Amino acid sequence: MRLISALALCCAVSTAAAQDVATAERYAVIPRPVVLTPAAGAFTLNATTVVQASPAFRAVARRFVRDIANPTGFDLRVTPLGAAGGIRLRQVPGLANEAYQLDVTARGIEVRASTAAGAFYALETVKQLLPPAIYRDAPLAGVLWRVPAVHIEDAPRFSWRGSHLDVARHFMPKEYVKKHIDLLARHKFNRFHWHLTEDQGWRIAIRKYPRLTEVGACREQTLVGPYVSDPAKQVFDGKRHCGFYTQEDVREIVAYAAERHITVVPEIEMPGHAQAAVHAYPFLSSLRDSVPTPGVMQVWGVSPWILNPSDRSVAFMQDVLTEVLELFPSPWIHIGGDEAIKDQWKASPDVQARITALGLKDEHEMQSWFIRQMDTFLTQRGRRLIGWDEILEGGLAENATVMSWRGMAGGIAAAKAGHDVVMAPGSHTYFDHYQSQDKTREPLAIGGFTNVEKVYGFEPVPTELTPAEAKHILGAQAQLWTEYMPNPKHVEYMAYPRLVALTEVLWSPASRRDYADFLQRLPVHLRRLDALDVNYRRLDEGRVQ
Ligand code: ACM
Repeated sequence: MRLISALALCCAVSTAAAQDVATAERYAVIPRPVVLTPAAGAFTLNATTVVQASPAFRAVARRFVRDIANPTGFDLRVTPLGAAGGIRLRQVPGLANEAYQLDVTARGIEVRASTAAGAFYALETVKQLLPPAIYRDAPLAGVLWRVPAVHIEDAPRFSWRGSHLDVARHFMPKEYVKKHIDLLARHKFNRFHWHLTEDQGWRIAIRKYPRLTEVGACREQTLVGPYVSDPAKQVFDGKRHCGFYTQEDVREIVAYAAERHITVVPEIEMPGHAQAAVHAYPFLSSLRDSVPTPGVMQVWGVSPWILNPSDRSVAFMQDVLTEVLELFPSPWIHIGGDEAIKDQWKASPDVQARITALGLKDEHEMQSWFIRQMDTFLTQRGRRLIGWDEILEGGLAENATVMSWRGMAGGIAAAKAGHDVVMAPGSHTYFDHYQSQDKTREPLAIGGFTNVEKVYGFEPVPTELTPAEAKHILGAQAQLWTEYMPNPKHVEYMAYPRLVALTEVLWSPASRRDYADFLQRLPVHLRRLDALDVNYRRLDEGRVQ
């Protein structure tokens, strides 16, 4: 008797568990929607399905049709709203920006949103409800394009859901930058932070200062292996490393991102991380003309070469920003501000005289003054300055948004002072860290350990903040620094599936975050990444990561 009830219990539990897994696989939507109510039945897409759309959603509808044309072989018709049936994208008032509602029945698919972004995200969810083959480039015979019946209500938790990409340490081709952006959109990210200038290379053409790319976009060779500070122990590859984006390339990428509801936030580093710029235009140097400029940096680490804070340098960087503003409609412009070693400023009689003349206390206030010139410049042109958390030192510029990378403390201080914040702490969002504790099983990385589970556990809103202060946390983003990522495939290996975990942190309500549930949906999602030809890192089943 006892045996029988134990058996019954065992099987009831395992049947329920099996049902959970089946449901998770049937509705493997990532990031997890706010409300998802499964229903029986399915809608089957075929060559005669019509996509009806409100005028504001016509472009989103056409993009969807183009996106699924290759795998399905269908060339679906887009029409104004009419009779029930097929796929209907209806603009309704009252839903939040980026929010959507989705109903799938055997008769059709109904999307409601108030913004094109909301309709776009609804269709990204529809694609995730279809078989993973929907992400292939080429048709696959015999696939039934079924969308399981469901009711979904969805909206993002944070307005800033981003990924940064450093194209300066290693240049990434334009086509790859587009692929990175496309993958972000498929994961409902909405910010691409493009790290364009560094000690090791300047990657954006500026008409007024052509030497920035003629001279600054090439380094003669690159350090091989892990960073060692002793020059006698450094080994180089002997190969020139070059690359930059023309202004036409930039326009193309910005438009490509906009079509996918992604804002491209450009970063132009100042006053530090400027060795390539100083080499291209030696008058920017903080040392006297008699000291030769150092070339474009060939090793990793932080360069001591820093822009001098003269009026001429300020004007130079504002000229650069003028062209940047023409290219990037982003409300935010990132001016770096991190890791500006002040040794050259301390040693320079000119900079010391400048500090005195401006009535400043020290080099930190000098940096703050420099950043303030950019803040005023950008604010007058209707944009907002964003910088790494070092911009807090020496006084934060009035309108600045802070990107908190040295932990959460900078973000907490900025939010308490009433400034907006993007969280980017090294501990959870630096995807240049190792993905395993056993480093011998991984390609060379900068250090650290950040696996998928740790990313999934990241909470962007610190408990130290009051609800009013917490409103300043716009969201968070991943960092992809590429010192040890020499090519796109390597970037993908470091980015995925950690970005998959991060999107659920940033989109889904904290109460819906459940790592066990995520792990049930993830295998289906990895099949999507296979179809998209993403070189993601495999999860180590049953082993400590
Ligand atoms: C940084 O990692 N230096 C922002």
